[in-house]
Amino acid sequence: MFSDKLISRLKDAKLVAVFTGAGISAESGVPTFRGEDGLWKKFRPEELANFDAFIRNPDLVWEWYRYRKKIIADIKPNPGHYALAEMEKRHEHFAIITQNIDNLHRRAGSKTVYELHGNIERNYCIDCRKSYSNKEIIAQEKAPRCTCGGLIRPDVVWFGEFLPQDQWDAGEAAAERAEVFFSVGTSAVVYPAASLPMIAKRAGAYVVEINLERTELSHQADEVLLGKSGEILPKLINACYQNK
Ligand code: OAD
Repeated sequence: MFSDKLISRLKDAKLVAVFTGAGISAESGVPTFRGEDGLWKKFRPEELANFDAFIRNPDLVWEWYRYRKKIIADIKPNPGHYALAEMEKRHEHFAIITQNIDNLHRRAGSKTVYELHGNIERNYCIDCRKSYSNKEIIAQEKAPRCTCGGLIRPDVVWFGEFLPQDQWDAGEAAAERAEVFFSVGTSAVVYPAASLPMIAKRAGAYVVEINLERTELSHQADEVLLGKSGEILPKLINACYQNK
C-alpha cells in the first residue's frame, strides 16, 4: 500500500508537516463542505459565513454556528487524528496545519497545531474583543451579546476575511521546511490554504495526498493514497514506526 520511498523518507524525516481538511473529521461525524452530503449543498456560504450576513441577520448566523458547535461538542477524534498525534512523537519537528475549526487534533493529543480558519470553541465580541467560551453562551437562542453590548461572533474565518497572520506564517514556514508533507482530507480548492502543498513541494518536500478521491492536487503529489484517512493513517504508523 505504501511505497518504500515513503516509508524510508518518513522514517528518516526530522521535519514533517501535515495539512488537514474536513475529510479527516468526516469519520468522527463532522459533515464536510463539498461533495454529495456537503454542508455547502444545503446552506449557502454567502448567507452564513461572512461578516455582512452576520450583521444583517445575527440570529440566523448564530443559529447555524450553534448547531455546528453542538455537533462538534458531542463527537470524538477518530483513529486518523490519533495517528497524527502519534506521528508527532516520532519526529523532531512536526506541525499540523489545519483548515478545520473543530479542535479535534488537540483533543486527540496533537501539540503543534496551526489553525488557519479559527476554532469554533472560541468566540469574541466584535466591539471590545472580549473572548467567550462556548459554555458561557451556548444556551442562548438568539445571537449573544457581550457585557459591552456588542455582538459575540465565533472565532472562525469567514469568506472575505484574512487568515490569522501568525497561524499562516507558522504554517507556511512548516510547509517550506518539511521533508515529508501530507495533505489529508481536503479538496484543496480554498486559497490561500490550498497553496501549502505546492509551497512544500517547491521547497523539496515529498508530498503525499490522502483522500477518498483524487483532487486538484493529485497530479502534483508524489504519492496519492486513496481511502479513508482513519484507516490509512494508522496503517502508515504501523508500517513506518513498528521497528523504529
Ligand atoms: P471539503 O469539503 O472541500 O473537502 C473534503 C475532502 O475530504 C474531499 O476531498 C473528500 O473527498 C475528502 N474526504 C471525505 N471523507 C474522507 C475520509 N474519511 N478520509 C479522507 N478524505 C476524505 O473540505 P475542505 O477541503 O476542508 O473554509 O474545505 C476547505 C474550506 O472550505 C474549509 O476550511 C471551509 C470551507 O469553506 C472556511 O470556512 C473558511
